[in-house]
Amino acid sequence: MTTLQQLLGTELPLVQAPMAGVQGSAMAVAVSNAGGLGSLPCAMLGADAMRGELAAIRAGTDKPYNVNFFCHTPPEPSAEREATWRAALAPYYAEFGIDAASIPTGPGRNPFSADVAALLGEFRPPVVSFHFGLPSEALLAQVHGWGAKVLASATTVAEALWLQARGADAVIAQGLEAGGHRGHFLSHDLTRQLGTFALLPQLVRALKVPVIAAGGIADADGVAAAMALGAAGVQVGTAYMLTPEATTTAIHRAALKSEAARHTALTNLFTGRPARGIVNRVMRELGPIGAAAPEFPLATSGIAPLRAKAEAQGSGDFSPLWSGQNATGCREVSSAEVTQALAKGFR
Ligand SMILES: Cc1cc2nc3c(=O)[nH]c(=O)nc-3n(C[C@H](O)[C@H](O)[C@H](O)COP(=O)(O)O)c2cc1C
Repeated sequence: MTTLQQLLGTELPLVQAPMAGVQGSAMAVAVSNAGGLGSLPCAMLGADAMRGELAAIRAGTDKPYNVNFFCHTPPEPSAEREATWRAALAPYYAEFGIDAASIPTGPGRNPFSADVAALLGEFRPPVVSFHFGLPSEALLAQVHGWGAKVLASATTVAEALWLQARGADAVIAQGLEAGGHRGHFLSHDLTRQLGTFALLPQLVRALKVPVIAAGGIADADGVAAAMALGAAGVQVGTAYMLTPEATTTAIHRAALKSEAARHTALTNLFTGRPARGIVNRVMRELGPIGAAAPEFPLATSGIAPLRAKAEAQGSGDFSPLWSGQNATGCREVSSAEVTQALAKGFR
């Protein structure tokens, strides 16, 4: 049987979770050089930034690395839904003196596309991972065509079987504890979402491809527990968020270090899709799941100026303070050190 290390070409069966907005090439390079699979999240990068980050990874390591993309279908913008969203936020615009008419509309995150695939072809990254399903068959064939291994997140058994049937080389079992966006894509019914220890053994039993456990894994014991349940490896995100290689803001770092990190919830208010973050003022007052938020990723533009104004005053009241349910692994040490500590769980 092929191990995850053999599949990925790494020393350790450990994937550093791609985390859009809080890390870039520096963390990917550090983790890959430490024997794990470093990841570059590309969901929020334009073509020039992506090219720069990929070049930085190439310059920083000759080890395997992963590039990560969202593959949602962008919604049709709806003037009515946007108006509903702006109306829900209006009291806050008034509080901060923001002229609602000056706020641009538009997407906050773009899906994997033919243009992106062409750009990636120049770099031929050894591993590509996807969140929210997979791109079209033709685009996926292009990715496989340059020899890349493909990973994708599943949150239910049905999604995992769907990904395996369409050619994913390994499946990431994303438990409900995980920080950031839920990767669900077949059903938007959140009652179908499972915790890591419920989801993982069910996927291990149902799949032929290796299963990577994600969500709530914060230390070596968590890694060992996931491996005992049949995981071929782990993907860890939150535990890396206080490292010097992370670009986590000072406000976000302070929240992760505080008691507030014990209370996270799924919220759609920041982007339009449920994602796990530390509960803050806007989540308490409008949600955490709010009907007024337009579809992913259209909620982003309406809330962005509130975040900017609040953060300028030192407040995270309107910021997406993404975190998993278990922030106890967050330490202000290097990404290499976090990787080495987690690696002790592969006993
Ligand atoms: C700040 C943050 C940003 C994230 N962004 C992404 C992303 O861009 N792409 C992705 O596939 N997963 C993303 N995730 C989810 C991770 O891939 C993974 O499922 C999660 O971090 C695992 O749970 P943990 O945070 O408890 O370790 C993000 C998670 C966090 C905490």
